[in-house]
Amino acid sequence: RERKMYMACRNDIHRHDAPFIAVYKSLIPAEEELEKQRQLMAQLENLVAKEWPHAKLYLYGSCANSFGFPKSDIDVCLAIDDDDINKSDMLLKLADILESDNLQNVQALTRARVPIVKLMDPVTGISCDICINNVLAVVNTKLLRDYSRIDVRLRQLAFIVKHWAKSRRVNETYQGTLSSYAYVLMCIHFLQLRRPPILPCLQEMKPTYSVRVDNIRCSYFDDVDRLENFGSSNRETIAELVWGFFNYWAYAHDYANTVVSVRTGSILGKREKDWTRRVGNDRHLICIEDPFETSHDLGRVVDKFSIRVLREEFERAAEIMHQDRNPCAKLFEPY
Ligand code: CTP
Ligand code: MG
Repeated sequence: RERKMYMACRNDIHRHDAPFIAVYKSLIPAEEELEKQRQLMAQLENLVAKEWPHAKLYLYGSCANSFGFPKSDIDVCLAIDDDDINKSDMLLKLADILESDNLQNVQALTRARVPIVKLMDPVTGISCDICINNVLAVVNTKLLRDYSRIDVRLRQLAFIVKHWAKSRRVNETYQGTLSSYAYVLMCIHFLQLRRPPILPCLQEMKPTYSVRVDNIRCSYFDDVDRLENFGSSNRETIAELVWGFFNYWAYAHDYANTVVSVRTGSILGKREKDWTRRVGNDRHLICIEDPFETSHDLGRVVDKFSIRVLREEFERAAEIMHQDRNPCAKLFEPY
């Protein structure tokens, strides 16, 4: 009987596709916003080139990975191939340069975990953080963007999950919940494991792109135009996938023993990663492997209190998807 009810729910789920697609569409930034970002980026490139002719500027994070919301700040990485630079000095110098070009609220945070300069552009209203030589973030941004080009359902699912996480306040790493980056990886992984799969595992395919960053070899198949139809034999729609995603994290994921891995397109054991116990502040209560920095667990920010908050939110979302007549409204209700 339970199975029958379950199937009835699933068959009925399609009537929620249209509202979810509408939410997704409302979250996509407008072209003029992207144009403003490009404008600010060009200005910054100009300023930086004058002082450091060999430096390059890259966008990373949500403004470049295709999972950005409207009005998000932009993240910029200044890459300079010079072993002798002192990051703090360089950031202070950069702050001076930016200030004399009339950028506002310029602030060098040289002691942060990732040292940055913050600024606000009064012309476009965009805020921006600039860091130095965080090239791994530029490369993982490209990986996320390449995945998003394979099947539109990734972008749909990730926007909805991010919107849910922000509405429910479980997208706050300083409070022990997960980063947007972690949520997007969870979505990619989920779509890699659908049967038939909706996404391939790009890092297990023959590499067409390969760079070495901080002694880590980053390579994968990036010729994604050739994978346009990869997921087409799977006909699942967005409402089904949202349902499946929350159901997985609420009831099916083995938190005690497993690690989700986009790199291998599979579920790994905590044992093989040696993530079975707390080491320092890393508790490994929910394990999401970084695709390149494989010793990095994106769930390490989660502690014994926030894991409960997270799991309760996954369960709440799954229950809403199972039972609610209008899940789209309830799911994103502010916490
Ligand atoms: N990043 C990372 N390792 C982390 C967290 C973030 O490498 N533990 C990098 C990723 O390149 C990510 C970027 O920093 O794309 C920005 O992270 P985050 O703010 O979590 O994601 P955004 O995509 O910018 O999302 P939001 O819209 O919430 O700003
Ligand atoms: Mg960001």
